[in-house]
Amino acid sequence: MRPDSRIYIAGHRGLVGSAIRRACTTRGFTQLLLRERARLDLRDPAAVHQFFTTERPEYVFLAAALVGGIHANDSRPAEFIRDNLLIQANVIDAAFRHGARKLLFLGSSCIYPKLAPQPLREESLLTGPLEPTNEWYAIAKLAGLKMCQAYRRQYGFEAITLLPTNLYGPEDNFDLESSHVLPALIRKIAVAQATAAERVTLWGSGTPRREFLFVDDLADACLFLMEHYHDEQPINVGWGIDLSIRELAELIAAVVGFRGAFDLDASRPDGTPRKVLDVSRLSALGWRPHVPLRVGIEITYDWYRRNAASNPAVSTAP
Ligand SMILES: NC(=O)c1ccc[n+]([C@@H]2O[C@H](COP(=O)([O-])OP(=O)(O)OC[C@H]3O[C@@H](n4cnc5c(N)ncnc54)[C@H](OP(=O)(O)O)[C@@H]3O)[C@@H](O)[C@H]2O)c1
Repeated sequence: MRPDSRIYIAGHRGLVGSAIRRACTTRGFTQLLLRERARLDLRDPAAVHQFFTTERPEYVFLAAALVGGIHANDSRPAEFIRDNLLIQANVIDAAFRHGARKLLFLGSSCIYPKLAPQPLREESLLTGPLEPTNEWYAIAKLAGLKMCQAYRRQYGFEAITLLPTNLYGPEDNFDLESSHVLPALIRKIAVAQATAAERVTLWGSGTPRREFLFVDDLADACLFLMEHYHDEQPINVGWGIDLSIRELAELIAAVVGFRGAFDLDASRPDGTPRKVLDVSRLSALGWRPHVPLRVGIEITYDWYRRNAASNPAVSTAP
């Protein structure tokens, strides 16, 4: 990529898209093509083709998708499979038809089979049943991965697929009904601290183990792989280190300064027992994350506090 390359960041206002935008700006890329959903609904094939006809992006970061936590996936299956299938099919096809040089597609570690051996190796994909609570989203993402491979095989189109672990950071979604576990815990524990509550409730048993990557590290990996990765095989992006939901809650409590107790709500689903990535393929390419979990949580909590007042989705109200 040259400093004046035409770079389209689909979903530039989201958690990942905004981090890729920050990384591109910091690296001096001057031709960023950005469209809010209100101007370009990526579910609309004609609008997507018109955008590519007019703007002719050379590089595409496909960070637009319908994303959410366990509850959102479980309660809105039709939207999660439809929107993601439409968004990725429209953008991947238009990028190819309008001569883009390379497209980077974002899958997710939740597309691995529920009981695949841990840590999760890319070879385990499609070797067993998926986690039921997010299978609609996972099936759509698997179709996106396969579409990238198919376009590469039939047309020689340079599309790559990244499989990031759970991400967190500035611009995350803190809405308790639709967010992921880490931002939900930051909000719950911050509210408890602000209202002098003595107890916070965790969903499930607290024992599931998860891995977390600071989103600016992922953006760094996206730019690295856009330059240096040219294979049809998807590639994991993460630390390869996990912790339990209980340990995560205690770490966030330490950052926030909350000294109360945690209750467990067993009526809520745990999801997959463990989800940690094997990152040896990415390490072999020479890339490593930089932001340790505690530091990332401190930065995210600071962003949450500074934005709680101005952003309705990020409020301290219980
Ligand atoms: N978050 C994670 O933990 C995680 C982990 C692994 C992989 N990923 C992958 O990373 C990618 C980005 O996820 P994220 O966490 O950044 O999600 P996000 O914060 O919800 O951002 C998604 C972006 O997509 C845009 N978008 C959604 N539907 C659209 C449509 N119909 N037309 C145009 N734009 C649309 C949204 O626009 P608005 O701003 O208008 O809503 C938003 O800017 C996804 O492919 C996801 O699978 C995420």
